[in-house]
Amino acid sequence: MTRVKETLSELLLLSKLQVRLASLVASNSQRQMLIKRLRMISKHVPCPHNESEILSFGLEILSFPKDKEGCVVEAGSYKGGSTAKFSIFTKLANKKLIVFDSFEGLPENVENHDKSILGHSIRELFVGGEFCGSLEEVKNNVRRYGEFDVCTFIKGWFEDTMPAFSMKIALLYLDVDLASSTKTCLKFLYPLIIPGGVIYSQDGDIPLVIEVFDDDEFWEKEVGLRKPSIEGLGKKKLIRIVKDTE
Ligand SMILES: C[S@@+](CC[C@H](N)C(=O)[O-])C[C@H]1O[C@@H](n2cnc3c(N)ncnc32)[C@H](O)[C@@H]1O
Repeated sequence: MTRVKETLSELLLLSKLQVRLASLVASNSQRQMLIKRLRMISKHVPCPHNESEILSFGLEILSFPKDKEGCVVEAGSYKGGSTAKFSIFTKLANKKLIVFDSFEGLPENVENHDKSILGHSIRELFVGGEFCGSLEEVKNNVRRYGEFDVCTFIKGWFEDTMPAFSMKIALLYLDVDLASSTKTCLKFLYPLIIPGGVIYSQDGDIPLVIEVFDDDEFWEKEVGLRKPSIEGLGKKKLIRIVKDTE
């Protein structure tokens, strides 16, 4: 897709999402304030995401049934732009936001990335140390622009920090770039997601990540569950799963 087409489809999607936002946040001034805060974050913090990706997940947080338990989890925060934005939605929904990151950037890896499904080169984009935001930097950005009091930060490599995590999860957002990191997140966090819980990955345009999501054997042997139905897999950057109600 050309950049112009991508920009147009982003604008179209954003206008649809804003209509949905209006049905969830009735007060016009509250809505304007929310949008203003999101824009302020994009202006002051480097944000390698589209506004529609954040708003889509934000609307999931706001529309999640109030009587259902579970926290919101973000894996991959970089400088804290997405974290600050999600923290605002999380506070409105009266939930807690748990943030996993090394706060040292991507791990060293041998993954051979070439092009995204949208045709963009991603070769050498995901080398060790890329997308580094220190814990102090992230905390300062969330304190300044988001809702710090709803956040808990868990620092370290996912494979070290996630196995001990045991909180029930209502909503999970992955933006971790690597196939190996995606596997670790799914292996340790997917079983903690409550029935009806919602999972997004912003890495649905990365072929090696698509392979992970599409791998029946990985789901059965490593996650211990049948591969779920995955909306947008192989077609969209933002993919979505709703965990089966058992
Ligand atoms: C693209 S950045 C996230 C961008 C952020 N969501 C935003 O929109 O501003 C990817 C993040 O994943 C983290 N990450 C990836 N794999 C990791 C791993 N195995 N352990 C810890 N952190 C990891 C990196 O440190 C980095 O902060």
